[in-house]
Amino acid sequence: MNLSERFRSVFGNPPVLIAEAPGRVNLIGEHTDYNGCPVLPMAIQYGISAAAAPVDRQSPAVLTFANTKDGYGRREFALEKEVPPFTRGDWGNYVKAGVQAVIGYFLQKGKKIDDFTGGKLLFHGTIPEAAGLSSSSALVVASAAAFCALNSLEIEPEIFAGVLAEGEQYVGTRGGGMDQAAALFGREGHAVKIDFHPFGVETVPLPGGYTFLTAHSLVEAPKTREAMDRYNRRVIECRLGTEVLDRAYRKRYGGGEKAIQLLGDVSAGHLGLSPEELERFVHTALHPEPYRIAELAAGFDLPEQEILNRYCRRRDGTEMPEPEEGYKIYQRVYHVLSEWKRVEDSVRVMREADGDGSGEKMEHFGLLMNGSHASCRDLYEISCPELDRLTAVLSAGGAAGARLTGAGFGGCAVALVPDARLGNCIEYVKREYYREYLEDGEHTEESVLFPCKPSSGARIQRLTGR
Ligand code: GLA
Repeated sequence: MNLSERFRSVFGNPPVLIAEAPGRVNLIGEHTDYNGCPVLPMAIQYGISAAAAPVDRQSPAVLTFANTKDGYGRREFALEKEVPPFTRGDWGNYVKAGVQAVIGYFLQKGKKIDDFTGGKLLFHGTIPEAAGLSSSSALVVASAAAFCALNSLEIEPEIFAGVLAEGEQYVGTRGGGMDQAAALFGREGHAVKIDFHPFGVETVPLPGGYTFLTAHSLVEAPKTREAMDRYNRRVIECRLGTEVLDRAYRKRYGGGEKAIQLLGDVSAGHLGLSPEELERFVHTALHPEPYRIAELAAGFDLPEQEILNRYCRRRDGTEMPEPEEGYKIYQRVYHVLSEWKRVEDSVRVMREADGDGSGEKMEHFGLLMNGSHASCRDLYEISCPELDRLTAVLSAGGAAGARLTGAGFGGCAVALVPDARLGNCIEYVKREYYREYLEDGEHTEESVLFPCKPSSGARIQRLTGR
C-alpha cells in the first residue's frame, strides 16, 4: 500500500513526511522497568507509520487524524495546554498522549501554546494488536515524532524516551519505559539493553543462526480497566516491597536517608553489602506469607488509610482496594531481583555467543528464557494456562527457550529457535497449539506466528520536494 497516495485520497493533499515507529518484543526482563531494573527487548519489523502534513496556522491549532484500518474513525482535537482525553478506550487517546507529552515538554521549555502548528496525520499499522508487541506505544511514539517533525522540534532521544513513557500514562496504565525506549533505540541485528536507574542504552549484537519466533496465545491482552488493574497491582506490590526493604535496611544498618527508592537499588554495590549479605538481608526482611494492610500500617507506623493513599493509587488518582489474598510482596520482589540477574546474564552470554558459533551460549540464553517464564508464572503470576501450554509446545517443537513476553495475562510468547529447526517448530506448533484455531477460518498462520527480525528504531522520512 502506498501511504502517500492514501493520504492524498483521505485529505486531498500530499504528506510532507512519514514518521515510523516499530513495535517490540521483549526478550527478557519482564516487569523490571518500572522498578528501575533493566530490560532486554528488540525492535521488530512490524510498526506504525504516520504520514503527516502541516495545516495553515489557525487559532487554536487543530490536529486531524485518521487510520487506514476500518473501524478506526477519523478524529480531531485542538492543541491546548491540557488536552482533554476522548472517551476511555478510544484509539485517539494514544495519539493525544504522544502530542500532549511533546506539548507539555516544550511549554516547560518556554514555548507558548500558540507556537504549535496543527496538521493532518494518517496512520498505518502492521503490529498485531492486543498481542503484547507494543502497538500502543508505537502509536504514541509515531504520533509524537510526527508532531515534533511538523513543528521542527527536536528532543534528545534519551530525554524523549522518558517524556513519552511518562506521557503514555495519559491513557491510564502505569507502565515503565521499556516500550518507548525500544521503539526509539532499536537497531537492526541487535537487542537493546535499557537501564532506567539511571537511564542508559546499550545495543547487544544478536548472533545469526537463530530466530525469535513470537506466537500469539490467542488470549487477547486487552487494555480494559480490569487488565490495567492487574498490572497496576503488581506496581503497587513492588512499591510496598521497596518501602518494607528500605525500612528494614535502615533499621539494621542505620542511616536516616532513604537507601532504597526502587527495587533497582537492591544491589550489593548500592547498599554496601557482600552478595551473601544482600541475599540474607532480603530473605530475612520479607516473609513469604501475603502482607495485609494492618501489618503494613503497623510496620510503617501509619494509619491504614494512609497506606492506601500513599502507595495504592491508580494513575487516575482512584484508590485500589487491598486484594482479597493480600499483597504478595515477597514473591513479586523475588521475581524482579532474579529477573534482573537473568537480564545481566543474558547480555553476557549473548556477547560471548557473538562470534562463538557453537550455539552453546545461545542455548544457555534459552534456559534463561525458560527461567524467566517460570518466575513470571509462579512468582509474579502474570501467565495464564494458554501461555504456559504455548511455551511448553514451542519447547517441545524445538525451541531452545520460550517465555511469555510483555505485560502478560495473555498476548504473545517469544521463543528462541535455531534456524535449522524453525520450519519443523512452526509445523509442530501449528499442529499442537493452533489446529482448532486455524481450522475455524478466522485465523491464519500469518495472524498468529511472527518470526521477528531485530529492526531499527523510529525515524522520519521527509518527502518534500519529491
Ligand atoms: C508493558 C509495559 C512495559 C513493561 C511490560 C512488562 O508492556 O508497557 O513498560 O512494564 O509491560 O515488562
